[in-house]
Amino acid sequence: MENLSRRKALSLGVALGLVGVANPARAWAAAPGAQGAAATGPEWIWDTAADPLMAKMITGGHVPAINTAWASWVNNNDPLPTGVPAEFNAYLRQVNVLPSWADPAKLKRAADFNRRRDTYLFMLYGLGSGIMSTVIPREAKSVYWSAGGADMQDRAAKTFTFGYDLAELGAFEPTGQFVVTANKTRVVHAAVRHLLPQSPHWRAVADETIPISAADILVTFHSLGTYVHRKLLDWRIPYPAADQEAFLHSWQVAVHLLGVPYEHIPKTWAAAERQAAQMLDPILTPSTEGIELAEELLGLTAQIDLGVTRGFLNEFVRYVLSDEVGDWLGLKRDYAAAALVRTAWPAFILFREGLSPVMPGTFYMLDQFIRALAMLFLNKGSSGKTTPITIPIGNRAA
Ligand code: HEM
Repeated sequence: MENLSRRKALSLGVALGLVGVANPARAWAAAPGAQGAAATGPEWIWDTAADPLMAKMITGGHVPAINTAWASWVNNNDPLPTGVPAEFNAYLRQVNVLPSWADPAKLKRAADFNRRRDTYLFMLYGLGSGIMSTVIPREAKSVYWSAGGADMQDRAAKTFTFGYDLAELGAFEPTGQFVVTANKTRVVHAAVRHLLPQSPHWRAVADETIPISAADILVTFHSLGTYVHRKLLDWRIPYPAADQEAFLHSWQVAVHLLGVPYEHIPKTWAAAERQAAQMLDPILTPSTEGIELAEELLGLTAQIDLGVTRGFLNEFVRYVLSDEVGDWLGLKRDYAAAALVRTAWPAFILFREGLSPVMPGTFYMLDQFIRALAMLFLNKGSSGKTTPITIPIGNRAA
C-alpha cells in the first residue's frame, strides 16, 4: 500500500480482483444449528477437488515449482504444465475442459457482445463492480488480508487477466486463454482457503472460518455480470435478447470453471436477479478494509490523467453505485461534477447509440475519460502485457 504514488495502472482486475463476498449466505442460510438439506446450500460448499490438493501442495512446498511450470501454460490448447506433482497434473487434466452444456455459438456471440459493448463494460466493471467489491465486507477483508492485498497494482494487473481473457474474441476456443485463466484462478482461490485462516489479522475481522464459498463466488458474479446486465438495461443501451443470453452464458461457464456446482448457477437473468436480490443487495456495507481499498483504487485511477478530476471520478462512482455507497466510502462531494455526470452521461449514451443527433458539449471529455479507462483496463498503462497469475504462499503481513 505504501508505494501507490509509483503505480500507474488500474485494470479490469480492479473489478475482478476485488471480488469476494460479504455475507450473502446469511440471507438464505440454514437456521442456526440446522443440518442436513439446509447445510448443502452454496454457503456450505467450497471446492472438494481443489482445496485438499492445494493444502497439500502448499504444505509440501510445491507451489514455487508449480508457479514456474505453469507460467508457459497460457492457451486453452497448450499442453498441461510438466514438472509439477502428478496429483496436480491429474487434477488439471480433470478440470481443464469446458462443461458439456457450454454452447459454442453463445460463447462466440458473448465475445462479440463484449467487443461491441466494451465502452460500457469497462466503465461498469471498473468503476461500478470494482468499487462495489469494497462494500462487500467478506470480499474486502479477504482481499485486504491476502498476500495480494499488499500490492493493489500488481493484484489489479494479475486479476485483469481474468476479465481480459473472458472478453477476448475466441476466449473459450482452443486458441483462447480463458479456460486456463479460470483454472489458475480456481487454484489460487483454493490456496487462499488454506492460507487466509492462518492469518491472525483476517481471523480477527472475519465472520467466517473458511473464505470464498460457492455462495461467495456467486455474489461476486452478481456484482459483476448481474450488475452490468442491470445497468445496460437501466441505461437503455440497445441490448437484444440474444446478447443478453450470450452474456449470461459466458458468465455461467466462467462460474462453473471457478468450481461452483451447476445446480447453483442461475439459468436465466430472472433467476440471477432473484438470487442477487437475496445474496448481494442486502449485504452491501462498509468496512475498515473496504474503505481503505476503495481509496487506493480511486487514488490509483486519479494518478493517471483521465482528463477528469477526482471530484468527477467520485461523482461517477456515486452515479453508477449510489450516494449511499459514496457516503459509506467517504467520497468527497463535487456538486458541479455531479450535475455534469447526471446530465452529460445520458446525453453521451443517446448520442453514441445514434438515438439523438445532438452531440453533448462534453462528448470529448467523456470520450477521453472512457478511452483512458479502457487503456488502463487493457493494461497498456504499464507493460502492455498481463501479469501472470501466481499462487500465493502466504498472507499479507500487516
Ligand atoms: C484471486 C477472480 C471470487 C478473493 C483471484 C484471481 C482472479 C480472481 C483472476 C487471481 C489474481 C490474483 O492473484 O490477484 C475472481 C472471480 C471471482 C472471484 C472472477 C468470481 C466471479 C472471489 C471471492 C473471493 C475472492 C468470492 C473472496 C471472498 C480472492 C483472493 C485472491 C483472489 C483473496 C488472492 C489474491 C492473492 O494473491 O493474495 N480472484 N475471484 N475471489 N481472489 Fe478471486
